Amino acid sequence: MVLQTIMMAQLILVVILAILFSRIVVASAAAFPIAKPGCNSSCGDVEIPYPFGMTEGCYLDEPFQIICNTSFNPPKPISQLSEIDVARISLEGQIHVLQFVARKCFSQSSVVPSKHMVTTFSLAKFTLNHTLNKFTAVGCDTYGFIKGFHGVQGYTTGCMSICYSTEEVVDGICSGGGCCQTSIPKGTSEFSLSVGSFRNHSVVENFNPCSSVFVVEQGGFNFSMDLLRDIENVNKLPVALDWTIGNETCEIAQKNLDTYACQKNSKCINDPEPDSYPGYRCSCLEGYEGNPYIACQDIDECQDENLNTCTFKSLCKNEIGGYKCSCPNGYQGDGKISPCLPKRKNQQLLVTRIIAGIALVTAALLAFGSWLYFEFKRRKLIIEKQKFFQENGGLLLQQELIKQKDCTNIAKIFTAKELEKATNNFDEKRVIGQGSYGTVYKGNLTDCTVVAIKKSRVVDRSQIDHFINEVIVLSQINHKNVVKLLGCCLEMEVPLLVYEFINNGTLFDHMQDKAKASVLCWHTRLRVATETAGALSYLHSAASPPIIHRDIKSVNILLDDKYTAKVSDFGTSRLVPMIESEIPTMVQGTIGYLDPEYLQTSQLTEKSDVYSFGVVLVELLTGKKVLCFDRSARERSLASYFLSSIKDNRLFEVLDDNIDTERNAEQLKEVAMLAKRCLNVKGEDRPTMKEVALELEGMSLSTRHSWVQHPATVLEEMESLLSDVTIILSPKKHVLLPINDGR
Ligand SMILES: *[C@@H]1O[C@H](CO)[C@@H](O)[C@H](O)[C@H]1NC(C)=O
Ligand SMILES: *[C@@H]1O[C@H](CO)[C@@H](O)[C@H](O)[C@H]1NC(C)=O
Ligand SMILES: *[C@@H]1O[C@H](CO)[C@@H](O)[C@H](O)[C@H]1NC(C)=O
Ligand SMILES: *[C@@H]1O[C@H](CO)[C@@H](O)[C@H](O)[C@H]1NC(C)=O
Ligand SMILES: *[C@@H]1O[C@H](CO)[C@@H](O)[C@H](O)[C@H]1NC(C)=O
Ligand SMILES: *[C@@H]1O[C@H](CO)[C@@H](O)[C@H](O)[C@H]1NC(C)=O
Repeated sequence: MVLQTIMMAQLILVVILAILFSRIVVASAAAFPIAKPGCNSSCGDVEIPYPFGMTEGCYLDEPFQIICNTSFNPPKPISQLSEIDVARISLEGQIHVLQFVARKCFSQSSVVPSKHMVTTFSLAKFTLNHTLNKFTAVGCDTYGFIKGFHGVQGYTTGCMSICYSTEEVVDGICSGGGCCQTSIPKGTSEFSLSVGSFRNHSVVENFNPCSSVFVVEQGGFNFSMDLLRDIENVNKLPVALDWTIGNETCEIAQKNLDTYACQKNSKCINDPEPDSYPGYRCSCLEGYEGNPYIACQDIDECQDENLNTCTFKSLCKNEIGGYKCSCPNGYQGDGKISPCLPKRKNQQLLVTRIIAGIALVTAALLAFGSWLYFEFKRRKLIIEKQKFFQENGGLLLQQELIKQKDCTNIAKIFTAKELEKATNNFDEKRVIGQGSYGTVYKGNLTDCTVVAIKKSRVVDRSQIDHFINEVIVLSQINHKNVVKLLGCCLEMEVPLLVYEFINNGTLFDHMQDKAKASVLCWHTRLRVATETAGALSYLHSAASPPIIHRDIKSVNILLDDKYTAKVSDFGTSRLVPMIESEIPTMVQGTIGYLDPEYLQTSQLTEKSDVYSFGVVLVELLTGKKVLCFDRSARERSLASYFLSSIKDNRLFEVLDDNIDTERNAEQLKEVAMLAKRCLNVKGEDRPTMKEVALELEGMSLSTRHSWVQHPATVLEEMESLLSDVTIILSPKKHVLLPINDGR
């Protein structure tokens, strides 16, 4: 770990140093004179380096004279001695010349006279480079040979190639099929080429009329079928010749400084294969460049990173014949493998500083990274919220709300943040109710309003339009006995509904809790029933479109501290389209309260609510549970239990003990009869909710205003209560008749 840190520190230091010490250096091209001062260094495209030269005094001695024939374009350099064209001269000791091809062509088996049938070359001072050149013969009825001399000794070698069809010929391969090659002995300074045919090309004339031979350097010639057909296009091919200085070895040459050709900063190299004409070459010393026959110059290795091994250019110092890598003052190291580091006493401090620097940078990077991460998450959350908002019909709702701008009772769209704050992030301690529909939380809004927030469990996305419609309709219901929907929140996965908070629990609780039930007197029960019926009647007939609650039960009737009933939970409620009065639906509701006709037919009507309300009435009368397994199978449901008790004339036996039956006997009977009608198996036979509400209203009024004598007053009262309901006078006269009970 420590080692790694130090190495890292070194690396960083090196980078810093490189920036500090680097200077911009103008790179200079390696331009050195190749010809003697005052001499022309090129003829046409060909560079002519000394010892070669064109004019008197510009070449070393006769063999190195080049004649530049300017009547050609571009001008053509010709070696003076052997009158051969020069293609290229290299200071390593080769001169590349162009040589004629020797050939013999036939037509109808007789020789067609041509220029170079036998060719002799005298290379004077030069010799054929035997590794670069090959003797080559091309033709299908061909033999050729080279007669050469190295010194006084002669040799003859050659090859032949016979083929009968082009199928034996492979392009690019010179090994018998139309083309043969052989190598040449070293040191050839004079040679002649001969070419011949066995059958005067009589057999192969149709595709190969000529035989040809030549010496060619590697890569200077590619054999191909076309050459068999027509070699006449090929005039000259390149040949590599070696040249050396003088006819002595280095050791002897160096003794005579007057003629010694190697100049400043160069060394002498003996001919690698000394022959009858020995000689030497010159070469620049290491670290120098240029023409060793004129002068070698120092190479600035620092300019070319391939030539020096310093870690950085700035550490490189050129020296005569070499270079040095050195660290700046106050630093140590060789500037190559071991980088420059401050001298020991500062090193500790510097390393500490560097480590501190690294730590700082890392911390900054981390901070930036985490900021990025959280920003990313925040954006993702916003996008998700928007997605839910749209999926949950937010846009639809917003449109609706815009349409109804002037209406003050419209639902508010809460933000997820608002509700999270109100419920302390949906704290479990805030749960006030839980059921199959979802969870209800108690929430405190920032304006101190206490609300109930219902979080649904699942939402059928196809029902979103209905949901939105319901939200709008419910938010417009302003009935004192319906729990008010304040708004909703669509930014979460499931829509949240926000209701006013009712603080005294459910009617069910009040009846099942012994202590609470004992204080629930008949007046209160009747009032709760009346208020509930009023609310349902309002929903069925006054709301537009009508609403069927679908899940009326004591659990869904909330009570406030004054025992005012509040109908709640419209989770399964359905809006009834104006045209159809019966909607086929999936049967939903609570067993015990469920309309048996609806259960059978799946046809939902307002009368289903009437049945359920009937059960609630029975609950209020008897204080018994809706389903009780202590009772016989037939009487297990409260409704059938109650109906059979009426049938058997046992009503007063089943009434709740907490009710003062003697004082309210008359009313109890009437309510029981009303309940019985509500519980009719056939929906048609049940009263409408409006009728039920009116009857109960009448009974309540008679309790409250038992002194009322004139039915008109009752009507007025009722009209003021149900201002937008057309009052249908119940055929039952007792609605209008005061019953002496309150007295
Ligand atoms: C060198 O020779 C070429 C022709 O080969 C000519 O165009 C050029 O002017 C000559 N340069 C000098 C410096 O003599
Ligand atoms: C240049 O070449 C032409 C054509 O080969 C020849 O006639 C002429 O004599 C040559 N000139 C010199 C200076 O060699
Ligand atoms: C032939 O040419 C090669 C390549 O340029 C060179 O290495 C070799 O020394 C030459 N041979 C002679 C005898 O100069
Ligand atoms: C080839 O031609 C030469 C002269 O042109 C002739 O003497 C010789 O007989 C010929 N050879 C064959 C095989 O035709
Ligand atoms: C011969 O062929 C090779 C590759 O096919 C090519 O690079 C080269 O220039 C050719 N040489 C000549 C003289 O055409
Ligand atoms: C070497 O060359 C010199 C002049 O260039 C000549 O006089 C001498 O005879 C030559 N020696 C041999 C052994 O060829």
